[in-house]
Amino acid sequence: MLDAYGRKINYLRLSVTQLCNLRCRYCMPAGGVLKKRHDEMLTQEEMIRAVKAAASLGITKLRITGGEPLVKRNIVSICREAANVAGIDEVCITTNATLMPELAAPLREAGVRRVNISLDTLDEKKYAFITRTGSLSQALKGLEATLDAGFEKVKINAVLIGGFNDDEVGALAALTKEYPVDVRFIELMPMLDECGFGKDAYIPCDTVLRRIPELRKVASDGGVARLYALDGAMGNIGLISPVSDHFCAGCNRVRLTADGKIKPCLHSNGEYSVKGLDLAGMRECFERAILAKPAAHSPLSFSRHSGAGRSMNQIGG
Ligand code: 5AD
Ligand code: SF4
Repeated sequence: MLDAYGRKINYLRLSVTQLCNLRCRYCMPAGGVLKKRHDEMLTQEEMIRAVKAAASLGITKLRITGGEPLVKRNIVSICREAANVAGIDEVCITTNATLMPELAAPLREAGVRRVNISLDTLDEKKYAFITRTGSLSQALKGLEATLDAGFEKVKINAVLIGGFNDDEVGALAALTKEYPVDVRFIELMPMLDECGFGKDAYIPCDTVLRRIPELRKVASDGGVARLYALDGAMGNIGLISPVSDHFCAGCNRVRLTADGKIKPCLHSNGEYSVKGLDLAGMRECFERAILAKPAAHSPLSFSRHSGAGRSMNQIGG
């Protein structure tokens, strides 16, 4: 359906859990997050009902997010049921890939078509630092398993952090020569009060163009990334600039959190609860939420944090 500003909303990001097996510094507070009561979270049945309600309003594309969606025990079954909802053309998933060695093949078989993998560094020590608990070799095993499982598209998302991985943009971009993947650099968004990085960490995506002058421009695929490529590469380089150049005017998405709150805008605190509603109630709730989508969120900066009112793992990225 169209929102109040004439934007066509056809994309739902569904967070299936706020839990994660990693603790990325920009995403989660050091102590993790308080686990919500089980009865506050959506059941699988409610998630699928919500997807049906959204599809009845014109949502065609679904992305499963978390936290880390693969820590959810029934993730394969959720994906299979979601992929079978009438009107849903495409189910995609965003993951840190560490559990992909076991789950890539079952997820592909369940109908997941595309996978985005979060990977901010190719240095083992830096990976352990940024994720607080993770192992790079496990993530790379997950990447290989994902590539072997035959998904239609695999993308790597790297959050660009000044003083942390800006010296690795060349190495990360070179993954597009080694593997059939796109690599996308995403500007660090100020979501948490203490994300562990100072002002210098917030660098614009244009830094990537300065570091890799040989990147050539490629036509947009209609997504939020500006696209480039290296000669001889199998995939594109994408630059996603939510901070330096927010793309609200072309926004096509709404989010549903694992505790059943529709968020019309990532950076605004408006929430609409579908928990406990029947199909008609959920449909009406999505309608209200879509009509309440703000024209744009207020600008983001180191000193002006997101108005999301939740950390990223509680929203789903
Ligand atoms: N800024 C930019 N990207 C973020 N992500 C999580 N927190 C932030 C942030 N503060 C990204 C992760 C992953 C996706 C789920 O969201 O790196 O790619
Ligand atoms: Fe987990 Fe992704 Fe958040 Fe890292 S960014 S803590 S992998 S949900």
